[in-house]
Amino acid sequence: MPLALMISCLLASFSTLAVCDDSLETCGAGCTLSAGSRGLLQIEKTMGNQKETTTSTTWASPYYMMTCPGTQAMTTQSMTEADYDNITAEIQALYNSLPSTCTPTECPQADWAGCVLRMAGHDFMDYKDGQGGADGCVDLTDADNLGLAECLFTGEFGISIADAYQHFCQSVSLADFLVIAAEAVMSASRQHVTLEDSSRSTIDFKSSFKFGRTTAKTCEWAHGRLPNPENSCSAVQETFVESMGLTWGQAAALMGVHTLGRAQIANSGYNGWWSSALMSRKFNNDYYVSILAKGWGPEVAVAGNAQKNQWKRVDAGANETGLGKEMMLNTDLCLAFTMDDAGTVELDAATAASAECKCTWGVPVAVSTATTKYEEGRFCGSTNIPGSSNFRQQRAICCGEEFDGRSDAAIDCGLPIDPKGPAYESIKKFANNEDAWLRVFKAAWRTATGNGFSLRRLRS
Ligand code: HEM
Repeated sequence: MPLALMISCLLASFSTLAVCDDSLETCGAGCTLSAGSRGLLQIEKTMGNQKETTTSTTWASPYYMMTCPGTQAMTTQSMTEADYDNITAEIQALYNSLPSTCTPTECPQADWAGCVLRMAGHDFMDYKDGQGGADGCVDLTDADNLGLAECLFTGEFGISIADAYQHFCQSVSLADFLVIAAEAVMSASRQHVTLEDSSRSTIDFKSSFKFGRTTAKTCEWAHGRLPNPENSCSAVQETFVESMGLTWGQAAALMGVHTLGRAQIANSGYNGWWSSALMSRKFNNDYYVSILAKGWGPEVAVAGNAQKNQWKRVDAGANETGLGKEMMLNTDLCLAFTMDDAGTVELDAATAASAECKCTWGVPVAVSTATTKYEEGRFCGSTNIPGSSNFRQQRAICCGEEFDGRSDAAIDCGLPIDPKGPAYESIKKFANNEDAWLRVFKAAWRTATGNGFSLRRLRS
């Protein structure tokens, strides 16, 4: 990976063209940032025909990249419910200004909400031994964080949360603001679900929100702490269970955020939606339903990159042209499935084919409630569900028509009737019961966003 990771800074409007001072308090239009080495930025600004390059040691953290008309608050001193509501309203107004339409390849609200939420996740996933957490700091020049600058300050579909931050930055720390922004997009995306079906529960983040996170300007130590999807459940264990103090059930609940947004080759090297494009703007339990009610096969060397291996939907309902490309990462599917029947070898798309693990699928009876409630009676994309009465035919529906022989049992990643992933029971529960997921999710979110801080409740 060349070190020149380019981040185009289109923060300022064109009326403030060439606002690009050396201290990097702002990097406006006409200004490009590239990473010389970690934490060392090269700033290129073009004025007329002249190109000037300056080197700065200022960090490419959100603190430096998101402008504030006055002095940025490092720690929020006091905050009311009305303050929380005002921030939420501004973020949701930005979100709602995006088209709500989705095609198999583009869904603006899903992409924008996904980016804002992913930022919060990258922020808190660097917590370890009392250091890091939701302090508002990530290294934007780190390849792991590609794509985050867009919704933060350069503009994704022309919109970034920096526009809202301006109005609160002198009293609310960026660290608190980013958590509220993530809660705002989850709530807005949840509304699509409850408006469509009034029997689904609303989600309330405000009543348990606490403020008081101090913004970190730099965070060198965060490098390398984000879980690598290739490392499967070992990565989930290290980050969520060992460093962040979550149970496996809470880790699985937190991963449900992948119901929003998608992976893009330009950012992470992975490719696809965790669900259909249309579903990806709805904050619901579809992530769990997708894990267990769809068939997934390994896709090695995504776009020719041997370092990037994922799982793609292979069942009778897979329809890339009509629904969009559906995929899962090792770190998603490993929660429920292993490579072997005994559950000792964790799931790995890169070596799955050679290990005779060509398809993850579970028995329909495990998700019969989910299939009826959320999938219009479809399992593996089909209303024809032979189940245990014709196991081979069921496998062919879930894994591909070529797998309809007796010997094809060998292709299953573990026993479909008894998956051995470390969070299988939670995944099954969340697929069948969305409210159970929302309850555990809220607790996990509180822990994840609170780690490392002593926080206070909002004043009413
Ligand atoms: C084991 C843990 C995790 C791994 C390995 C992981 C990995 C990834 C990867 C590779 C992408 C694709 C990024 C892109 O190409 O743009 C992604 C997207 C995303 N991640 Fe995660 N993630 C993890 C946990 C989390 C957590 C805890 C959150 C937030 C609370 C989160 C929120 C998201 C969201 C919302 C997206 C969609 C981004 C978009 O649409 O722009 N992830 N994740």
